[in-house]
Amino acid sequence: MKRIFITGASRGLGFEFTKQYLGKGNLVFACSRNPEKYPELVELKKTYPDRLALVDLDVSDKGSRNKAFDFISNETDYLDILINNAGIRFGGKKYCDELGKLEEEDFSRIFQVNTVAPLMMVEKFLPLLKNGKNSVIVNISSSSGCITRRSKKGGGYSYSASKAALNMITKTLSVDLVEEGITVISIHPGWVKTTMEYTTNAPLLPEESVSGMRDVIYNLVIENTGKFFDWQGNEMPW
Ligand SMILES: NC(=O)c1ccc[n+]([C@@H]2O[C@H](COP(=O)([O-])OP(=O)(O)OC[C@H]3O[C@@H](n4cnc5c(N)ncnc54)[C@H](OP(=O)(O)O)[C@@H]3O)[C@@H](O)[C@H]2O)c1
Repeated sequence: MKRIFITGASRGLGFEFTKQYLGKGNLVFACSRNPEKYPELVELKKTYPDRLALVDLDVSDKGSRNKAFDFISNETDYLDILINNAGIRFGGKKYCDELGKLEEEDFSRIFQVNTVAPLMMVEKFLPLLKNGKNSVIVNISSSSGCITRRSKKGGGYSYSASKAALNMITKTLSVDLVEEGITVISIHPGWVKTTMEYTTNAPLLPEESVSGMRDVIYNLVIENTGKFFDWQGNEMPW
């Protein structure tokens, strides 16, 4: 039984990770802003009262991260897997991610949630990850962050840049943590129909994507650290 910490567990891929990891017998710390507000999470808690902990966490808020750490470190002294999944597509209420429409505040907000927060999560929860055996940090990235593949399609500045920068954080963490035996990867979930904007026509369902990503995570060894994979285990270019 692994001890798994998932951010953004209220809906979309984070909720699916929570459901699948619980179904496989693991202990899950499912973090979300106001988890009690999400009926499906509350139902899941009724099904798995001993193996699911719902944790109130806004990943972009230092005080909230500190509180979540206090709560979790009271429950466990180690973690096997941290999934930095929480992410946003828009920094504000409307799309303004192309030339001529850019809003500085929205750009900063996307970076705060998609890039800075995952690193700060690692910074805070590192003591628990160090106590785990062969522990793993998974940063949910995106093919939008692939600089190599950017050719014809413009726009999407802040989202793409936030994920490209997250990939650099993955690589740098992998260098810092290899001696600790901690594997750090970025993963692209595919284009998946979730509650995220622009996914209504996506070909993949969360069940398929998450099941694929779980296989990738299950098969990780330290030699894979610092790599960028897709949900099927193919290595992605940076
Ligand atoms: N779906 C795709 O096609 C796709 C493709 C590539 C990459 N991704 C990445 O996959 C990850 C999950 O996306 P998704 O499609 O599942 O999106 P989603 O359905 O919109 O879910 C996003 C999750 O992130 C949480 N979140 C947002 N801001 C947060 C914050 N400040 N603190 C804590 N939680 C926060 C949301 O919680 P609340 O309910 O509290 O808002 C929600 O649980 C993201 O990193 C996304 O960039 C998705």
